[in-house]
Amino acid sequence: MATHDDDVIGKAYDARLMRRLVSYLRPYRGQVVLAIAAIIGHAGFELVPPFLTRLVIDRYIPAGDLSGLGTVAVLYLVTLVGSFALEFVQTWTMQMTGQRIMFDLRMQLYGHLQRLDVGFYDRNPVGRLMTRVTSDVDVLNDLFTSGVVSVFGDLFTLFGIMAVLIWMDWRLALVAFSVLPIIAFITQWFRRNVRESYRTVRHWVARINSFLQERITGMATVQLFRRERLDYQAFDAIDASHRDANQASIFYYAVFYPAIELVSALAAALILWTGGGWVVRDALTLGSLVAFLQYSQRFFRPISDMSEKFNVLQGAMASSERIFGLLDTPVVIASPANPSSADPSLERPGGPGAAGVGHIRFEHVTFAYVPGQPVLRDVSFEIRPGQRIGLVGATGSGKSTIVSLLLRFYDVQEGRITIDGVDIRDMDLRALRARFGLVLQDVHLFSGTIAGNVRLGQEAVDDAQVRAALAAVHADRFIDVLPAGTDTEVVERGATLSVGQKQLLSFARALAFDRPVLILDEATSSVDTETELLIRDALATLMRGRTTLAIAHRLSTIQDMDRILVMHRGEIREAGTHQELLALRGIYHRLYELQFAQRIA
Ligand SMILES: Nc1ncnc2c1ncn2[C@@H]1O[C@H](COP(=O)(O)OP(=O)(O)O)[C@@H](O)[C@H]1O
Ligand SMILES: [Mg+2]
Repeated sequence: MATHDDDVIGKAYDARLMRRLVSYLRPYRGQVVLAIAAIIGHAGFELVPPFLTRLVIDRYIPAGDLSGLGTVAVLYLVTLVGSFALEFVQTWTMQMTGQRIMFDLRMQLYGHLQRLDVGFYDRNPVGRLMTRVTSDVDVLNDLFTSGVVSVFGDLFTLFGIMAVLIWMDWRLALVAFSVLPIIAFITQWFRRNVRESYRTVRHWVARINSFLQERITGMATVQLFRRERLDYQAFDAIDASHRDANQASIFYYAVFYPAIELVSALAAALILWTGGGWVVRDALTLGSLVAFLQYSQRFFRPISDMSEKFNVLQGAMASSERIFGLLDTPVVIASPANPSSADPSLERPGGPGAAGVGHIRFEHVTFAYVPGQPVLRDVSFEIRPGQRIGLVGATGSGKSTIVSLLLRFYDVQEGRITIDGVDIRDMDLRALRARFGLVLQDVHLFSGTIAGNVRLGQEAVDDAQVRAALAAVHADRFIDVLPAGTDTEVVERGATLSVGQKQLLSFARALAFDRPVLILDEATSSVDTETELLIRDALATLMRGRTTLAIAHRLSTIQDMDRILVMHRGEIREAGTHQELLALRGIYHRLYELQFAQRIA
């Protein structure tokens, strides 16, 4: 399940992670400096109003100095306007910078995801990877916009007020500070509990996500097997746990803020009681007392703010650990530093002629997805340029694995695969893959138009070529009756097209890309008889002038291949033409008999 590593909440502060996070600020050094200056300036302005109050009460009112009062009023206004301006600068720069950093991080993550091998995606569920690129990055944004930088402001306000209080009257300052141990205790209690409930909430959010992802993609199965009620109850349980976890954290917040208010009122009472007495005995000015009260009100806000930010920091550390974990996942399948025989002409969609095909050889290839459980054992065969090879065998015998290895979705563990004598691991990865046109049983369509799905971003393929490709594979028969023709939108996962129609589209795709080697993996297995005839004709078009490796379930589709390989439990057991294999009276013969018997029946 996709939850386990989303549960972990690490330390609140990790210097190594923090350094790496801060490195994302580097390109925006100017903005960060500006924001910090604005924050400190703003915090400085916060200190001014109580001071002005003290001035008015102690100096200008007793002296009856009206022009002095006017000056103070103007200063007060200037402070407010300045404060407003600086807060604007701070919010604007930080939010803008935060958005840019999120953009940078997401692009970096997506770029890395594109380089990771298929094996990585076997191991990591989609939901978890989505979380990395979406919500984990959002958490970091909180850190940059409201966390790290504004803590400077809080600290400045806090220490600024402490300094002013001590400067005005250190004895009364001590009275005000006497509540700090209570604050420390409350804050500690709040942080510990909120941290715990934050962890629980995240756990249940992850559970909700993975549950929904599975059930929404499998809604048809849920409805077919009438699991609605069961799943509803299961979701009810998860959702309730999520609500309860959130309610727990609401409780801590509901206690924390009023408690801080209460302590701040307590501080005010102590100041009034002690300071009031001193004013009576002329040991303190009235202005200082009022200023003390005002400062003490401002004193506790940064403290509660910082406790909140502590949670942001904690979440950010956990998220950044996961993000960096993903970014640090090594790219195990990559082009070598000095690729041999990379043919740049292969990059063109038009592709090279038969000259670029190459002589493909599997040499004693052994491979296991899971260490110790080999799926292919000592597989050797060759495909000469222009040859048509058929590959048959029971489900699970390793046919698709051969294709995955040839395209370097995985690397072999023993033996090697060569093209014209060059190990494919020594070739440029993109140039290698550019040799092959692949048609799979399960066709992946992207959201967009039909034409867009044939072209797949290759702008060099124009509309006429797209239409020609579709016509060549007889896909025009169903597309022409659609109201928007090739501009018809296919929705996510191609749900609006039938399996056979999708297969025809993927044929057209392979034709438009015009790759010299064609690989078909059970490309005709899920179509009806009428469509199969069309597809067989389309196949003939597609295979013309191309080297072909065709995996087929139905032997009829590969009977006229130059050579047929028979796989059994990860090994190639028989090889030859249709007639030769029948004469062997082995596995192929048995398969043929079985299918022939089915035809008759
Ligand atoms: N991504 C994978 N991870 C682990 N095992 C796999 C994976 N893909 C296939 N297998 C296993 O490898 C074996 C061969 O699979 P495959 O090559 O797809 O067979 P075929 O295409 O002949 O039906 C099967 O036992 C299958 O369970
Ligand atoms: Mg297969």
